[in-house]
Parts: sequence; C-alpha cells; structure tokens
Amino acid sequence: MCGIVGYIGTKEAAPIILDGLSKLEYRGYDSAGMAVYDGHKINISKSVGRLKVLEELTHGGETMKGCVGIGHTRWATHGAPSTTNAHPHFNKKETICVVHNGIIENYIALRRKLTAKGYEFVSETDTEVVAHLLDYYYKGNPLEAITKVLHRVEGSYALGVVFAEHPDQLFAVRKDSPLIVGQNTDGCYIASDVPAVLKYTRKVYYVDNQEIVRLRGDHMHFYTVDEEELEKEAVYIDWDANAAEKAGYEHFMLKEMYEQPKTVTDTLSPRIQDDDIVIEELNMTDEELSAIKKIHIVACGSAYHAGMTGKYVLEGLARIPVEVDLASEFRYRDPILEEGAMVVVISQSGETADTLAALREAKKRGFRVLGIVNVVGSSIAREADSVMYTWAGPEIAVATTKAYSAQLIALYLLAMKFANVRKTVAQEEMKEMLEDLKKLPDQIELLLGNKKRIQRFANRYVGAKDIFFVGRGIDYAISLEGSLKLKEISYIHSEAYAAGELKHGTISLIEEGTLVAAVATQQHLYAKTVSNMVEVKARGAFVLAVTNEGNHDIEKVADYVIYIPETHPLFANSLAIIPLQLFGYYVAVGKGCDVDKPRNLAKSVTVE
Ligand code: AGP
Repeated sequence: MCGIVGYIGTKEAAPIILDGLSKLEYRGYDSAGMAVYDGHKINISKSVGRLKVLEELTHGGETMKGCVGIGHTRWATHGAPSTTNAHPHFNKKETICVVHNGIIENYIALRRKLTAKGYEFVSETDTEVVAHLLDYYYKGNPLEAITKVLHRVEGSYALGVVFAEHPDQLFAVRKDSPLIVGQNTDGCYIASDVPAVLKYTRKVYYVDNQEIVRLRGDHMHFYTVDEEELEKEAVYIDWDANAAEKAGYEHFMLKEMYEQPKTVTDTLSPRIQDDDIVIEELNMTDEELSAIKKIHIVACGSAYHAGMTGKYVLEGLARIPVEVDLASEFRYRDPILEEGAMVVVISQSGETADTLAALREAKKRGFRVLGIVNVVGSSIAREADSVMYTWAGPEIAVATTKAYSAQLIALYLLAMKFANVRKTVAQEEMKEMLEDLKKLPDQIELLLGNKKRIQRFANRYVGAKDIFFVGRGIDYAISLEGSLKLKEISYIHSEAYAAGELKHGTISLIEEGTLVAAVATQQHLYAKTVSNMVEVKARGAFVLAVTNEGNHDIEKVADYVIYIPETHPLFANSLAIIPLQLFGYYVAVGKGCDVDKPRNLAKSVTVE
C-alpha cells in the first residue's frame, strides 16, 4: 500500500506534495519521491527511508520549482526499497512521469513485450511498465494514451500522471486502489486518501473504478475508459485529520480487519494464473519441490498460529511431514534437520529477532529457507533464499489481523503448489479448491458485516476473568489465534486448548458462567467437539460455538452460535477467525483499552 499525492494550480507544488505525503506515511514509507514540472522539463527527486529524507534532500521542496507535480511514499511490493525503485517513474525521454499505488499483475508479460520493442527498464518495479506503455501509446493526446494503457494493464492501480507536453494538466486514474481528488481556490489535488488534502479542502470526489480525472488549475473533468465524460457528486469530509488516517474507523485494527478482503485478494490473485498455482518467487523447479521430504515451519505469535494451520494444510494436501516450531525454541533446541528438509519462516515484520535467528540457524546448516513475509526488503526477506510476500500493506495495529489472513493464503497456495507437483490431489478437487479460494474475500466481507451482533455479545464479557477457546485439528489452530487476539488487546486471561485435552486437567478451570468458545468447522471432528461442549456445559460453562452454516443441531448445546459460510475445510481458518478477531476487538474497546498500542507490546519484537 503506497501513498500518492499530486497538485496543479497557482502555488509551488513541491511543498504541497511533501505535506500531503506526510499525512500518508501510515500507508508505507520505505522510500519516497516526487516530480515537478519547472516550466521546461520534469525534475525528479527520490530517496530511501522515511519521507523526511526527501524533505531534507529538496530543502522542504525549495529545490523543486513548479506548479504541477506528483509525489509518492512507497511500500515496496515488487523490487526492494531503493532510489531506482522509488516512484515516480519516467519514460526514456523523461516527458511522461507516473506514480502508482497497487499491483500491475501482468507486468512481466508487458515488460517482455515492451523490451522486445526496444524499451529499456531501469527498475525492478511493476510500475515502470506503465510509464513506458504510456510512451508507447502517446501520440500527442494524453487522455487517449491513458485509456489505451488501461485496456492493457491488469491488477489494481491508483495513478498520478504528468505529461511534459501538457503542463497545464494533471491526470489521475483509479482501479481498486483508493484515490480521491479535490479543489480549492489555489488549485486541484489528487491523493490516495483524504488526510493528504484535508488542509486544503474538505470537499472531495472519490474516484471510482476505471475512471480518469483530468485536472487543471481551476477545474477538473471525469471520464470513463472510453473517454466519455462523467458527472460526479462531491463529498464533504467532516473527519479530523487523525480520524482520516484511519479512514473514519475508530482504530487501525478495525480498519485493517476490514482490509482483509483486499489483502486476501492481493495475496491470492497474482498467484492464480489460468487456474494454475504460479509462485515464481519460490525459485524452485518442480524437481526441487518434489525432492522436499519434510518442512519445518518456524515463527512467533500469530505467525506461529498461521504456521500451525499450515501444517494441517500441507500435510493434508501434499502429504509432506511438517513440524511447527516457536522460533524462540527452534533456535536453541539444536533441532534435527534431515536431508531433504526445507524451512519456512513466517513473519509480518520480517524483523522478529527469534525468527531471524532461526532462519540463520537453518541456513548455517545448509538448509533452504523460504520466507513468508509482509515487509518488502526486511531482514528476513533479504536473508531467506526465497520470499513469498503477503502483500497486506503496512499493518499499524500491534495485533495482527490482515497480515495473519494473508499468511494463511500464502500457506494454502504453497500447499496446493506442492500437491500439484506431487500429484497428491485430483485435478477436480484442486479446481473446486481454487473456486473456494476465490470466494474467500466476499465471505470475509460477509462475516465482517456481523460486527454489531458480535459487539453486543462482546460487551457481556468486558468484565470476564477467564475465557477459553477450544477446537480440534485446524480448529485448535484457530482457537490459538482467537485466544491471542483477545488477551493481547483486552488483557483478559485466555487460553486455547486442543478440545480433546480438556479432560486431562484444564476442565477443572471451568466454573459457572465461564465463557468457552468452541470452534467446530472440521466436519470429521464435529461430533467430538460437540461432546466437549457438552462436557464444559455440564460444569457451568457458557458456550459460544463457531461452526459451519447448516450445523443447526449445535443450537441444542451451544448458548450462542456464529455460523461461517461453506468453504473447503482446510480454508475454514480464514473465515472462522473473523468473528474471533471482532470479539477480541470489541471486548477490548468495551474495556477502554488502547487497542492499537496494547501495554507492554511492540509491533515488531526485534530483541530476544
Ligand atoms: C500478533 O497479534 C502479535 N502482535 C505477535 O504475536 C506477532 O504475531 C509476533 O510478534 C510475530 O511478529 P512477526 O509476524 O512480525 O514476526
């Protein structure tokens, strides 16, 4: 997730762009850049690191004169953070300049075609393809060139474009990635999000998919991809700046929960091509994949919980033995890694000390390490032999939600890739699984729509002392994450147990009214889990059940039921975790806790 800003009007553009970008740093900031037309040509400045590096480089914009320009703070997806990869990107003649937020999914094919036509690429980014494609189609009419490009590129994009031959115009284009435009007496503005323009105007237009905006100093026009002009209604923003960064949500955590449909889509769609699983970044041939005899998954916290689900999915689909370790244990237990093993480390931040140490231990012993990482260019991403990025965008809340969901998707795809290579799953079932995967974003959206009902239920437990989560198989892995979400932000004691373990001691903890959340999504274990629910009810527990639609008989046992839509049992975690995230969030909100910054916790644990 990157931030883009643009301006055209009567004022100096650079300071306005820098100010706007500073309000978008929460969208990611591993590098930044801006381009301003000075009356003769477009000048560009770029820098690595936080925005203040660019501010210092340009003396607060002083060194970049001109009244039309675009700027960008980058959250890398393709190509590590560097000045070469930072936006804006030029065509070779430096007459067309573009900034982009999103993912051009077919950039490899387009890059190949443009290279064959003599175009030279200088960066590793997908975005640079857009600059050269605009050059290819530009014959003097910028709008025509833009519409032709939009018919060629696939994926998500919010674009800002400047044409040196048309310095009286600025263009903005949107598909799937957010983009707004606004105007005041000094000029017109484009931005990825409202906070960047609130200082200048509260009257904005939300650009819709496949819309193009041509902005001049004192007016703007909207067009379809077929160059038909559109009329749009302005929206008046009454948020304050802080609320605007959260897009109107009370907390980043809630905003990020609601981003999960998009992060699942962004992690999934580039890796499903013609109904086949394509994970080029694995850098492993089918022979190398077939030769893997065991997988060690190593991570911490929620990433470890995702890894627990990964075990069930990889063993279930690819029949490869999987061992899951807490990184802090793995690094010190002198693990036995046998020939043919590979290690998969999972980390949102890519900087967790224990996980990084585990990676180094595995590499020291000569084993291949795959990183499933969210932060591009992070230490784990750089040191792993190959990286599957989760493309969840920057996650601000300490309690992970969208990155965790994206980690699950990465693990499903990895398991399906191994299964395809090892031919352990029939083509028909694989086809059905792909269909189920594609439905997940809408199903997550549906479950997020339950928030009011879950909030009412959660409010009953703001005073709880103990809350337990139980499940079997994948439902146990889901319980672990549901329990962690609750305790790390509400500070209520909570444990997750393999439901079959209750009778081995922990059932003694159940008292009258103790809340037990029972996760029962695995149909082959359903009856067993229901009998565990009966056991705890007999001791006075109040049972919340999370189960599949259709299992209405559970209402005879459970006191409160949350149903999840039908999906492949191995993907149930992606759905069942949604109500549990909302439950933990609303209990914490009800207690008045600092949800985004819980006590004693850090977003990335870079020390032991
Ligand atoms: C998750 O909600 C926690 N914030 C924490 O458990 C986290 O998952 C863990 O510290 C691992 O972090 P990483 O994914 O950045 O390595």
